[in-house]
Amino acid sequence: FTDEDDESPIAVREDVVFLTPFLQLHVNHLLAVCEEGKIRYFGPLVAFEWLETVEMVRLPSDAFCCPGFIDLHHHAPQYAYAGTATDRPLTGPGGWLEEYAFPAERSLRDNLEHTKHLFQTVVQTTLQRGTTSVVYFGTLDVVPCQQLVDAALQYGQRAWVGKVCMDRNAPTDYCQSTQQNLEETKQLVQYIYKKAGRRGDNSRLPLVFPLITPRFIPTCTPELLSALGEYARSEDLHITTHISESIDEVQWSQALEGGTEDAVVLKKHGLLTRQSILAHGVWLSDPAAQLLRETQSAIAHCPLSNFFFANQSLPCRKLLEQGNLVGLGTDIAGGYDPSMLSACRCAVIASRALEHQQQSLTQQKCQQNNLSSPLLDYRHAFYMATLGGAYALNLQDHLGNFEIGKEFDAVVLTVQSNIFVCPQRDTMADIFQKLCNLADDRNVSHVFVAGKQVIGSS
Ligand code: GUN
Ligand code: FE
Repeated sequence: FTDEDDESPIAVREDVVFLTPFLQLHVNHLLAVCEEGKIRYFGPLVAFEWLETVEMVRLPSDAFCCPGFIDLHHHAPQYAYAGTATDRPLTGPGGWLEEYAFPAERSLRDNLEHTKHLFQTVVQTTLQRGTTSVVYFGTLDVVPCQQLVDAALQYGQRAWVGKVCMDRNAPTDYCQSTQQNLEETKQLVQYIYKKAGRRGDNSRLPLVFPLITPRFIPTCTPELLSALGEYARSEDLHITTHISESIDEVQWSQALEGGTEDAVVLKKHGLLTRQSILAHGVWLSDPAAQLLRETQSAIAHCPLSNFFFANQSLPCRKLLEQGNLVGLGTDIAGGYDPSMLSACRCAVIASRALEHQQQSLTQQKCQQNNLSSPLLDYRHAFYMATLGGAYALNLQDHLGNFEIGKEFDAVVLTVQSNIFVCPQRDTMADIFQKLCNLADDRNVSHVFVAGKQVIGSS
């Protein structure tokens, strides 16, 4: 909210700047949050009588209060080695899963003090970067998953926490029977209900939600997938897994499933629902993408990770235009950066890589370039990191932007010395774009989840 006396350098010319129909900058506006943490008013600043009775905060005009970021795909245990281990393919002997992921996840069962510290760091690090909601893969063991739930509740982050399920093709000391996977999954779901409440218990949205988490088809038998699908249906739970991620994964999965595509296998076991979040999807065929649209299952686009494992970038723009639900994920530690603004930038860069590929293909074939553009810009990416994520979670009525009645989950991005503002040339839109492309945790001055301040000075 700008102040007439504000000496900030940004000239304000209009009250609402439309960057696209789905991304607008509102100036001289008032946002009111009620005790319950929901948005009571968002609109022009009018001299309401009740303004006398509320606590008012004025934002300087170089601060942008934005919807909090929603990270649709994060392996919390893998944060221990994020920034290393970028030298292997995903699967196979000596691959990334076998060499790094499985040992790191398994080790958390042996040192619960270390695990607690790791998960507290994960939650604080993501909150400090403006991520208010995260879909977390935990570990195979239920106890570390409970610690992740505790860390999210302790620091006030909205989180989905899943016990990773595997009953085949995993190391013997990091694999469970079908039955044990199911039992520990149910145990974690009950733990989350006990600690965070159950959706519908009252008018408040819980802070932590349960999540059904078969790791991916190669490590889950059809019996396990079916049992998880059935349990998710009976409890109306969110589901997450990896789908059609990389060439090696697709080959392995199809060899195990008689040549059937991941999407078809997941559908058969009741794992493609309106509450499903499917990571990657780089190699989805057109009929598989269609199956995701029909079931309204969402894709978690993880562009940085895709550069390392997927052998290709997701045709994200095409999927959005076809009506697929797509949000963004960091995929810690397949992607090493926990920042969703970084995921936004990677999504834009990945789309440009696809464009380069298209251009060189059409040149080689001396064809007319009649393919549609794969390009995304910062506005598409910002949408996917916020409202797109809310749609993916089927919580578009509660999260993702500042509509009246939604949760006040927000991040305040502020210009600091790392962003050069040129008063003669920069519009509000320019400065917002500079923040999207250049901001880091120095620019996150405040974060709110469910109306409660979780980062920043008072
Ligand atoms: N596929 C199965 N497990 C994993 C994982 O931990 N990370 C990624 N990127 N892909 C997977
Ligand atoms: Fe992943």
